[in-house]
Amino acid sequence: MNYRHVYHAGNHADVLKHIVMMRAFLHLKKKDKPFLFLDAHAGTGLYALWGDEALKTLEWQDGVGRFYDPSGNAVPLATDCEALIAPWRDAIATVNAVGQPLSHYPGSPAFALHILRKTDRILLNELHPEDHGKLADFAARDKRVFLSAGDAAIAVKAHLPPPERRGFILIDPPYEREDEADRAIRMLRDGYRRFATGAFALWYPVTGDGLSDRLVKEAQALALPKMLKAELLVRQVLPEGGLAGSGLILINPPWPLAEELAVLGPELCKRMRQTDGAKWSLDWLS
Ligand SMILES: C[S@@+](CC[C@H](N)C(=O)[O-])C[C@H]1O[C@@H](n2cnc3c(N)ncnc32)[C@H](O)[C@@H]1O
Repeated sequence: MNYRHVYHAGNHADVLKHIVMMRAFLHLKKKDKPFLFLDAHAGTGLYALWGDEALKTLEWQDGVGRFYDPSGNAVPLATDCEALIAPWRDAIATVNAVGQPLSHYPGSPAFALHILRKTDRILLNELHPEDHGKLADFAARDKRVFLSAGDAAIAVKAHLPPPERRGFILIDPPYEREDEADRAIRMLRDGYRRFATGAFALWYPVTGDGLSDRLVKEAQALALPKMLKAELLVRQVLPEGGLAGSGLILINPPWPLAEELAVLGPELCKRMRQTDGAKWSLDWLS
């Protein structure tokens, strides 16, 4: 396991993923009944933007960095879209000092901790021993949090369906192994078989090696109802690779997430565009 999210935290892919997550959480909270957030690949929870690792790539500067000026003030989107990203900004504000340049970016666990209620449950799974240790330091004291350090596929099988019968499951693998796309699809299938009413989000990279096309086709072949694909390219996809964009396959996206993404997606694309070929797409796969 070589992948460490600290090199990539806050990049354009994180921005898309976390804004979508925050909208989904907000809609799930409209019902009083508690729900489970299962983060199958949780990472460390919180990332320093000026640490040695982040400085090596500076990926965040073309992601979250496009939403703040150098003094840390928000650079707003158009009013309707700014309102949609407000929960994401609120969580970022809690880990940064007012009036100072951005110093930290929350990971998916930190976003969840910020927005979920006392009664909701947060199950954080992370396999990398060092990152799991950091995650435990970050989140273990919160009474809503349960930690696990196993393989994501096992966590999905072990914890679904949740007793709450409501939940959001994030499958966010690093795609460093050859078979990782197949494993991700199997996780989605196994999770859905156990918990067909759950909301699922599977993240994937668009890198020009055909992985994203294959993964989307395989997801579609599962023939699950209510499957939405949201994809954001920040530049042209090149055969030599590199992260040109990313996407999310969403199962049972809570209403009105799809309608919101139709408004927000083009604005996120404009804001994080790097070169020609930047493109937003939103399609129901079923
Ligand atoms: C893309 S990062 C997660 C980022 C995090 N979800 C966020 O949005 O802040 C993927 C994480 O999965 C972990 N990981 C890799 N293989 C795994 C596996 N088989 N089971 C569980 N975690 C794994 C990596 O150590 C890494 O921290």
